[in-house]
Amino acid sequence: METKIIHITKENIEATAKEAADVWAQGGLVAFPTETVYGLGGNGLNKEASKKIYAAKGRPSDNPLILHIADMEQFYTLIKTDNAKIIARAEALADVFWPGPLTMILPKADNIPYETTGGLDTVAIRMPSHLVARALLQECKMPIAAPSANLSGRPSPTSASHVIEDMNGRIEMIIDGGDVGIGVESTIIDLTGEVPMLLRPGFVTPEMLQQVLGTVETDAAVYRQVGKDVHPKAPGMKYRHYAPKASMVLVEGAQDKVITYINEEAKKKREQGLRIGIMATDESKELYKADVVISVGSRISMDSVAHNLFRALRDFDEENVDFIYSESFDTSGCGFAVMNRLLKAAGHQVVKL
Ligand code: TXA
Ligand code: MG
Repeated sequence: METKIIHITKENIEATAKEAADVWAQGGLVAFPTETVYGLGGNGLNKEASKKIYAAKGRPSDNPLILHIADMEQFYTLIKTDNAKIIARAEALADVFWPGPLTMILPKADNIPYETTGGLDTVAIRMPSHLVARALLQECKMPIAAPSANLSGRPSPTSASHVIEDMNGRIEMIIDGGDVGIGVESTIIDLTGEVPMLLRPGFVTPEMLQQVLGTVETDAAVYRQVGKDVHPKAPGMKYRHYAPKASMVLVEGAQDKVITYINEEAKKKREQGLRIGIMATDESKELYKADVVISVGSRISMDSVAHNLFRALRDFDEENVDFIYSESFDTSGCGFAVMNRLLKAAGHQVVKL
């Protein structure tokens, strides 16, 4: 199929929103920018559209999709509203964080097909804040199921060029809205249980959620690898996500020790004829010797590290490195989301010094 690529401008945003809405109404797929990462959207109430999303990504169909909405009116049509406590928590979070990078898991209304929720009776919902995403969602008047617009197993796309790399020829339309702001996917919180449960860390931190909800727990799958026989609450957590093609190791410890260790190991591996990549920071990049050294941002701003993370992983792929060493980060603020993604990219291989 020929994929139409549209560069969004102030002038064409209305016409583009109409065009995307037409594609969605006919069951087709449109990739679009959000404030977190690019999404691969289809009509979330159309099970054939959901099947097309799984096919385009090469994604297992037990991994449920997030519904993207424009307003609260739409929200109430997608969930069961009989549990007052759950609804009060959702409304309190929506007041503070929507539109924005937070996804809530709630009991699903009957109109949402199981193809969209991966067979679950719960549904993930998010109201994005990105101007382009909002324009599209307001125009189409349907909930848009949208996973990240990468091929399954590749890092999430943070610019239209990443989406084009993975999706050109597989979907009807790609809307190029430039680089995204945040760079890691939304925070996911499950509100269906007695205690709200963080399933995926993101820009909205556990502390921010606790300020609204009181107690919030974190699902064990956020910290460690889960076995194939385990069913984590967010089914997506069991896959090796965000993975670069090379194998990757995270190195933790005091900064000087980390640099010495990585340089020594990189030297040994290069002597064996391997091509080595190092994920450094602005502060350390000059101190490494390897085939490819990429700074993921400055330690002064974890937001910059989150913003650059997936691009850096894709750049290592492009450089065809065999092995990547990465520095690790403090888990405060956005660092929690960064470390969660890095651990997954590394298949939880960590060296502690
Ligand atoms: O920032 C984001 O959330 C991006 C943009 C496009 O909005 N989307 C995104 O979607 O990251 P995706 O499909 O790549 O990740 C969705 C995650 C998966 O880990 C999935 O298992 C989990 O959400 N999820 C979806 N529905 C769920 C449900 N009903 N219960 C538990 N987890 C759910
Ligand atoms: Mg994804």
